[in-house]
Amino acid sequence: MAVGVVGGAGVVLRLGVLASGRGTNLQAILDACARGDLPASVAVVVSDRADAQALERARRAGVPAIFVDPRGRKKADFEAEISRILREHGVELVCLAGYMRVLGRTFLREWEGRVLNIHPSLLPAFPGLEAQRQAWDYGVKVSGCTVHFVVPEVDAGPIILQAAVPVLGDDTPESLAARILEQEHRIYVEAIRLYAEGRLRIEGRRVVILPPGEPRVRPEHLPPRQP
Ligand code: GRF
Repeated sequence: MAVGVVGGAGVVLRLGVLASGRGTNLQAILDACARGDLPASVAVVVSDRADAQALERARRAGVPAIFVDPRGRKKADFEAEISRILREHGVELVCLAGYMRVLGRTFLREWEGRVLNIHPSLLPAFPGLEAQRQAWDYGVKVSGCTVHFVVPEVDAGPIILQAAVPVLGDDTPESLAARILEQEHRIYVEAIRLYAEGRLRIEGRRVVILPPGEPRVRPEHLPPRQP
């Protein structure tokens, strides 16, 4: 992954959110934007499921909500269409929020350093599906959530923020997941703020968080590349 400061300050950052399901992380982002807590706005929400609650949340917030049907087409064509929609809406940062597909290399090359994901465990522990249940089954005493940059390897990109959540004696996978979710909503918004303020520097696997201060200008080499 590239080395350098990503994001930038001074303007409202245009977000594109990809979501497959209920969309509570999307809702946290929409609410933070609406409150004026985040120098960002959601420009478009895209889903691979027509019935995703996330699409309904977007419509309610007056945000374009677009279903892209993955059936009967190649993954590359499906992702090229998503990419085109994101470009058309002037998206600068793509946020995966419960998006249940693994993005391909072509998509990620175009959006390198501009795709974030939230995962419900302390990575690198418990990547993949049902991370909260994996953690509970394993018997860990602390789990949590992670916001990271997305790379082609699943749940493996440079880590921006994590929050720890203790596993209680009487927890079930569901009660643990509910407490982790509260922290997801908090740190996802915080990570987007750091990106929007140009305060994230990627150095190999490490993400350095720069102190607040002077507005940082987006480097010229970062505008979206054409496919
Ligand atoms: C969250 O637990 C997130 O960490 C994971 O998928 C779930 C999405 O939940 N990637 P929601 O759709 O945002 O409510």
